[in-house]
Amino acid sequence: MHIGCPTEIKPQEFRVGLTPNAAFEAVNHGHTVTIQSGAGNGAGFTDADYTEAGAAIVGTAAEVFEKADMVVKVKEPQPKERKMLREGQILFTYLHLAPDPEQTKDLMESGATCIAYETVTDDRGGLPLLAPMSEVAGRLAPQVGAWTLQKANGGRGVLMGGVPGVGPARVLVIGGGVVGTHAARIAAGMGADVTVLDRSLPRLRYLDDTFGGVFKNGYANAGNTIELARQADMIIGAVLIPGAAAPKLISRAQLSELKPGAALVDVAIDQGGCFETSKATTHEDPVYDVDGIMHYCVANMPGAVARTSTIALGNATMPFMLALADKGWRQACEDDPHLLNGLNVHAGNLTYYAVGKALGIDVLSPSLALKA
Ligand SMILES: NC(=O)c1ccc[n+]([C@@H]2O[C@H](COP(=O)([O-])OP(=O)(O)OC[C@H]3O[C@@H](n4cnc5c(N)ncnc54)[C@H](O)[C@@H]3O)[C@@H](O)[C@H]2O)c1
Repeated sequence: MHIGCPTEIKPQEFRVGLTPNAAFEAVNHGHTVTIQSGAGNGAGFTDADYTEAGAAIVGTAAEVFEKADMVVKVKEPQPKERKMLREGQILFTYLHLAPDPEQTKDLMESGATCIAYETVTDDRGGLPLLAPMSEVAGRLAPQVGAWTLQKANGGRGVLMGGVPGVGPARVLVIGGGVVGTHAARIAAGMGADVTVLDRSLPRLRYLDDTFGGVFKNGYANAGNTIELARQADMIIGAVLIPGAAAPKLISRAQLSELKPGAALVDVAIDQGGCFETSKATTHEDPVYDVDGIMHYCVANMPGAVARTSTIALGNATMPFMLALADKGWRQACEDDPHLLNGLNVHAGNLTYYAVGKALGIDVLSPSLALKA
């Protein structure tokens, strides 16, 4: 198969769909790989890294789209890219179609077969191509929160680990899933005094069994939340109710009960945020102040560490990318129902029920699409 990878053109996106190592594996499997010149620059990969891996370099995205049987990307295709997709071509990338009728219409009109990273599943009910980005955002949260706590950045002027004779920062993590667990581990590793709240008792049991000596945990009711929030120097929002907007767990009125200069890091901002005063910010201007409380609300946190994020995403996508290339999308999806769950659009049809429901579009069952 001919696999193509263009440079990402969405603003502030520095990741790339194929790492040189993924390109090398694909070439070793007998496939041809074409990369747009400069596609890896934002993640620290040069054209030479790709040619060494056996890939060909071309100057434009148009050449990549023209040559490729399968286009591998990171972000949803932008309008310009959607025009270059064609019937029978495979697109493998994040799509997030439910809130995006324009993109959905364009992808259906393209005739391409579009497999979305975010809906591929695994045996444990997880989302294996979303998890690496939650791991990154979770581990980044205490790092950016620590920066926000510095006096010059508007924070309380508290050091995460304290020093001998001075206690550490107190960190409250609300939501103990992938983001929350990784955030808590890093905050504890920085020496902070950390508590994680969650609503799921099985999850709290897991956290207690696995990390009992590293950080504390508690049940996330409103009383516990505000009590611990009052004592916290940093609060990390990491809740998720799948398919729904994030619940608002700290109101504007409650900000006056927090410590002045406390840092709120709302990782759940991509689902609307879990603090009433959260609004999405960018890496250029990540932090703002409401009533003396510093808010960090960047919706694409992994972009700040594009190299780590690219490699982490590539590790997760590579087995699926190779299966698609080795077997063709039909056989690969027939053999692996989790990959079939990634099928969102095929040959003019929408094939993912939740997107159809959100956008009011009829859906062709993915198993019928396999036979179409
Ligand atoms: N900003 C970014 O760049 C970025 C990057 C990755 C993920 N995210 C977001 O981070 C959030 C968390 O993702 P995740 O992968 O950890 O999800 P997850 O499903 O692994 O974990 C979510 C946890 O929240 C808990 N929860 C739900 N409602 C709660 C409540 N009211 N109080 C306390 N806990 C509650 C659940 O029990 C679960 O354990 C999501 O909104 C995700 O989209 C943002």
